Formats: sequence, structure tokens, C-alpha cells
Amino acid sequence: MTTVGGDATGTGTGTASGSRRQAAITGVGSAVPERVVPNAFFEDLVDTTDEWIRERTGIRERRFAGEGETTGSLATLAGRRALDAAGISPEAIDLIIVATCTPDRPLPATAAAVQRNLGSSCAAFDLNAACAGFIYGMSTSAAFIESGAADRILLIGAETLSRVINLHDRTTCVLFGDGAGAAVLERASSPGVIDSALHLDGNEYELLTIPAGGAEEPTSVDSVERGRHAIVMPNGQAVFKKAVVGMASACASLLEKNGLSKEELDLVVPHQANARIIAAVADRLHVEHDRVFVDMEWVGNTSAASIPIALDRAWRSGRLRPGHLVLTTAFGAGLAWGANLLRWTMGEPGGAGA
Ligand code: UT7
Repeated sequence: MTTVGGDATGTGTGTASGSRRQAAITGVGSAVPERVVPNAFFEDLVDTTDEWIRERTGIRERRFAGEGETTGSLATLAGRRALDAAGISPEAIDLIIVATCTPDRPLPATAAAVQRNLGSSCAAFDLNAACAGFIYGMSTSAAFIESGAADRILLIGAETLSRVINLHDRTTCVLFGDGAGAAVLERASSPGVIDSALHLDGNEYELLTIPAGGAEEPTSVDSVERGRHAIVMPNGQAVFKKAVVGMASACASLLEKNGLSKEELDLVVPHQANARIIAAVADRLHVEHDRVFVDMEWVGNTSAASIPIALDRAWRSGRLRPGHLVLTTAFGAGLAWGANLLRWTMGEPGGAGA
């Protein structure tokens, strides 16, 4: 078995007392750029209106990274805040995972910059499952901890999507924002990460993509001139419909597999892409809207960062309490989607055990 700093024997420094290794979230944190970009900003660039954007997406404003701000710098800030909330130092972390589709560089991983910035010496890697990155990362982190390969993991979702949008494409430029969210996962005696469902349909590879800049279409003068380095979504409605079906079915199957009913759910924290998608997922699941966390109004769609930003905001505002049963779910490019079923174990912000 590969270990990355954890105790594979199951008798090490973790917090567990039982025989079966489990993973739980012990800290969350988030960070967004200072620059606020209201919907009106786009009215001068493309044929759109604040009203259209609000009504069709639920977004009022988003944050765009300023000079010197990057995916790595936002990830570092969010990571530090999550470590503070967990009450542990960067040296105590065995592994850093950064879920992102907007890495600082093609090489090396943004996780390497975060490790350097935090002053840690642990293993670190990036994970790209687009908007579902945090869901995939949560499942990966739990597997590392449950297997004994790690005791403490810093999982971060971070994006600077403002650097890859075409400000003249109204079908995409109004949707996205920048930010980062993080969670510390530690070995625990009861399951905080109960189960996950991960899905992907590679046949829909073209529905949401940045065509150039990789091995398939390397950067060239031509690729830059033709705007091939920006996000394209040729059929937003198709993504919308697949997102509703995918997230609702991932959630429903996860509940069923674990013998839980929707009535037992305290909070659903979905990917913050579109308020209408979230409402449709809630309706399909027959979950009242007041048990669904909606937060894209101020930050837009931050892809892999959206769920950890929402979890942090939900916890800090008192919407997440110890013992709560929580479903997170996301959908995005790939097309990749999935869900995590969580038992919230963090205490009140600032309180004992927070
Ligand atoms: O996070 C990754 C996953 N991504 C998503 O989940 C995004 C999923 N898709 C969506 O959220 C929605 O499809 C959009 C918000 C992107 C678009 O909303 P829609 O209600 O599906 O609009 P539509 O694509 O059906 O377009 C309706 C009209 C079109 O005009 P015509 O052809 O009817 O004349 C569009 O060109 O709205 C037009 N339109 C806009 N109008 C004003 C598209 N974007 C804009 C805009 N402002 N920004």
C-alpha cells in the first residue's frame, strides 16, 4: 500500500479509536478576490442585461482575480483558513489535493505552489474533474484516509475562471467567477464522509470545453487569434438538462444505497451554476427548497471551488451543525458529475471543536 505520511497500520496519530478507519471534515475555509464584478459590467461588452442574467442564472455579481492573484494564491488562503478552523498546522498534513480546471501553469501542479506557500513538505497533486472536482476530491480523500495511506488531507477546490472566459461570448462570460474553498479531512472514529457517487460521460466531451492549450491543440499564434483558449459551451440548454438529471439521480441513488430517506437530509449543498438548475434538482428529489443551499448570487459559478465555498459559508452562517446529514452534488465538463453524502462533525464556528 502506498502511504503519503499516514499510518497504514491504523494505530498511529489519528483521532480514531475504533478499528475501522473513517474520514471526517474537521475544518473548512474559503477565499475570494476583492474585485467585485456586477452584472452591469457585461452590459457594455455584450448584448445582455442585468435582468436577463439574474432571471436566467440567479447571479448578481462575481469576483474576478486581480493582478498577482492566481488559483494557487486563492487556494493557499482558503487552505490556511481551513487549517485554522481545524486547529492544525500545515506540517501536520499528509497530502494536499487541489481540484481545479484553471491551474496556475500546465506544469507543475498548482498543488505544488500551495505546498510551497503553506510551508508544508507533504505529497501534493492536482485533480481535474471540472465543476465536479471537489466531489471527486472528497471521494479520493476519504479513500486515502480509509485505506491508511493518509491521516490528514487538505482538499482544496480553486479556480480563476476569469482568465479563461471570452468576454465577447455572452453565453459563457456572464456565468463564471473566481474563488477557492477548502476542507481538512482527518481520520475519525465515525463516518463523516459516508459515501460518494462518481459518474462521467466522455461522449459529451465537446459540450463544455477549452479547446486549445493542451496536447491536442497546442498553443499557437493561430489558436490565440481564433480565441481557442476560452471556455465554450455550444449548447447550454443541453448541459442544463443533463445537470438536473445527473445531480438528482446521483443524490437519489446515494440515499437509496445507504438506506436513507430524503426526509433525513438536513441540507443539500449543490454546485452553484444556476439557481434554476438547483430548483429543478430539489423538485426532482422532492426536497423543500429551504433545505437546499443557494449561494451563487454573489460569487457566480466558481466550478470546483463552488461546493467548498458554499460549505464554508453554510457552516459560518450556522446552517451546518454537528450531526447534520448533508448531500453535496455537482455537474460539469467531461461531462462529470457526482455526489458526496456527509455527516457534519464540525462544531460551531469559534466554539469548542470548531
Ligand atoms: O458549471 C458547469 C455546468 N454548466 C452549467 O450548468 C450551465 C448550464 N446551462 C445554463 O445554466 C443555461 O443554459 C444558461 C444560463 C447558460 C442559458 O440559459 P437558457 O435559459 O438555457 O438560455 P438559452 O441557451 O436557451 O438561450 C435563450 C436565449 C438565446 O437567444 P435566442 O436564440 O432565443 O435569440 C440566447 O442566445 O438567450 C440568449 N442568451 C442571452 N441573452 C442575454 C444567451 N446568453 C445570454 C445572455 N444575455 N448572457
